[in-house]
Amino acid sequence: MTTESLLHLLRQTVGDAHVLTGAGLERYERDWQQRVHGKALAVVRPASTAEAAAVLAACAQARVAVVPQGGNTGLVAGGVPDASGTQVVLSLQRMQAVRAIDAHNMTMTVEAGCTLQQVQQAAAQAGLLFPLSLGSEGSCTIGGNLATNAGGTQVVRYGNARELCLGLEVVTAQGQIWEGLSGLRKDNTGYDLRDLFIGSEGTLGVITAATLRLYPQPVAQLTAWVALPDLQQASALLQLARQQLDAGLSGFEVMNQLALSLVAKHLPQLRPPMWQSQPWCVLLELSDSQSEQHARERLERLLEAALQQGLISDAIVAASVQQAQALWHVREGITLAQAQEGQNLKHDVSIAISAIPQFVQQANAALLQAWPDVRILTYGHLGDGNLHYNVQHPQGQTPAQFNARHGQAISETVYALVRRFGGSISAEHGIGALKRDTLPQYKSPVALQLMRAIKQALDPQALMNPGKVLAALPAQPGAQGGAE
Ligand code: FAD
Ligand code: MLT
Ligand code: ZN
Repeated sequence: MTTESLLHLLRQTVGDAHVLTGAGLERYERDWQQRVHGKALAVVRPASTAEAAAVLAACAQARVAVVPQGGNTGLVAGGVPDASGTQVVLSLQRMQAVRAIDAHNMTMTVEAGCTLQQVQQAAAQAGLLFPLSLGSEGSCTIGGNLATNAGGTQVVRYGNARELCLGLEVVTAQGQIWEGLSGLRKDNTGYDLRDLFIGSEGTLGVITAATLRLYPQPVAQLTAWVALPDLQQASALLQLARQQLDAGLSGFEVMNQLALSLVAKHLPQLRPPMWQSQPWCVLLELSDSQSEQHARERLERLLEAALQQGLISDAIVAASVQQAQALWHVREGITLAQAQEGQNLKHDVSIAISAIPQFVQQANAALLQAWPDVRILTYGHLGDGNLHYNVQHPQGQTPAQFNARHGQAISETVYALVRRFGGSISAEHGIGALKRDTLPQYKSPVALQLMRAIKQALDPQALMNPGKVLAALPAQPGAQGGAE
């Protein structure tokens, strides 16, 4: 099939207005961090699963590669095409229906293009909670969240996106529809296909809908902002909070002063609370199923114990929902503030919680010895052992130049320590394009071989998001266009 006949077929399938070609497609072609600028053959926007399946079937027939895309907020450049101009971007953004809510079963079924915020709001309207929560929730889609197995700020209580998904509807690389939208909590009927697609970053198939697990809304939620002298104390506070609050602990985020100072510099309207003498802050959230008073008593007891044990030096408890939201906005503002400071080297790592203070101490020492002027932003989901250990260029230097010259050596230094501590080089953002060539150094050959076998079985023509997660396999005989 020629490119022209493919485009013609795609227009017939989704309508002329939803096959975008030519200029003006930059927002689909570059990633959120503006690290990758690709070129699409076309952006195709199906409105239904049947349309998405027909698009995939046509692309498979034409042997043209497909890059699924949701909100394009991913931080590893997984949702953007390469520069060849041969790949079709399949945008799920028109598929935004909430298909069903079963309040008794505590599940909802939504289409992949719903933003995370829309999903949260629909659950709230039914009096329930969908607890996944990310700084990007106004733009990212539930399909993208599942494709990346996103984490966020409530994992300590509710788990990653994977734990919140009971069933999926998926269009395969060949354009078949797998209807796996089950609301069952138990189903041991063979290999778990749902878990295979979750976290596969669009390399195995396209998620078109999902059945999600819902929870009761907490009766009361309280947020505290706490200052601490070092990360060891933050870790001890986490242990104490776990003991005292148990499942009531629904958020435990840590931030260093540099992260907050960038928020103060670039987003001053957020007014981050800062204690200059205290290098670390923790944002702690308690969700209580009894009452506001019960929650307040528990939180005050925790903070008193922490003060007595010398773990914290100062604390604010938000007096209203608005104040709590303002504190969360500060935490969520770090990503944007950092981006405004200039392109940085992101390391989204996970380590056993008990080893995090030691890891940070050793990583800081190693980096500052070799690059004394770099600025290290450390923040993240301490409750999950997930740190964003990001390195910003020295002041007065150009970020792109500094990163081009030193980025690889800096990341190798960080990842070597991650390996020594038995950690992971991607806790929640995935591999995408940016970490693809780093992955083989940190994943066992057997694991990589099994991943390749799965890819080969589900996508033998190598047309699903090629070049992401795994380097593309050699082209199949007769393949043209997208298969690299
Ligand atoms: P996209 O960026 O469009 O795509 C991401 C990947 O998923 C790509 O590989 C793409 O091909 C694939 N994909 C997308 N949709 C589908 C689909 N329907 N079927 C198959 N594959 C698909 N991430 C976290 O984990 N935790 C955080 O706390 C967090 N905070 C963030 C804060 C900010 C300010 C920003 C900008 C990003 C943040 N992220 C976070 C990263 C990002 O928001 C998540 O990875 C999110 O899940 C991506 O969703 P998306 O719809 O934007 O996906
Ligand atoms: C976060 O925790 O804020 C996100 O994962 C985004 C980031 O790494 O900055
Ligand atoms: Zn994060």
